[in-house]
Amino acid sequence: MTEFVKVARVEDLPAGERIRHDFEEETILIFNVDGEFHAVADLCTHDDGPLEDGPLEGHEVSCPRHGARFDVRTGAALCLPAFSPIPTYEVKIEDGFILVESPDEW
Ligand code: FES
Repeated sequence: MTEFVKVARVEDLPAGERIRHDFEEETILIFNVDGEFHAVADLCTHDDGPLEDGPLEGHEVSCPRHGARFDVRTGAALCLPAFSPIPTYEVKIEDGFILVESPDEW
């Protein structure tokens, strides 16, 4: 069964912003894109760079190291130098909190 973990209050993650959450095995970024929440691994598939400080335009986050872009909804790699998607995680809202699927359960 999927385990969900509280990562923040909804009000603490305004539109256009992101937060980072460290699980035991993985670090995850949670984005608020126009009121929709999306969670992805904080790990670029090109050369394992962190995406935490990458610019977000619409649903696309860019890797600050060499410019690969990913769709935060699907994890899809949108341009070189990345080919492979980044992992995505389920997000749900309960009682004003953002909950994310725990990658430690994978
Ligand atoms: S590490 Fe992300 S594009 Fe190279």
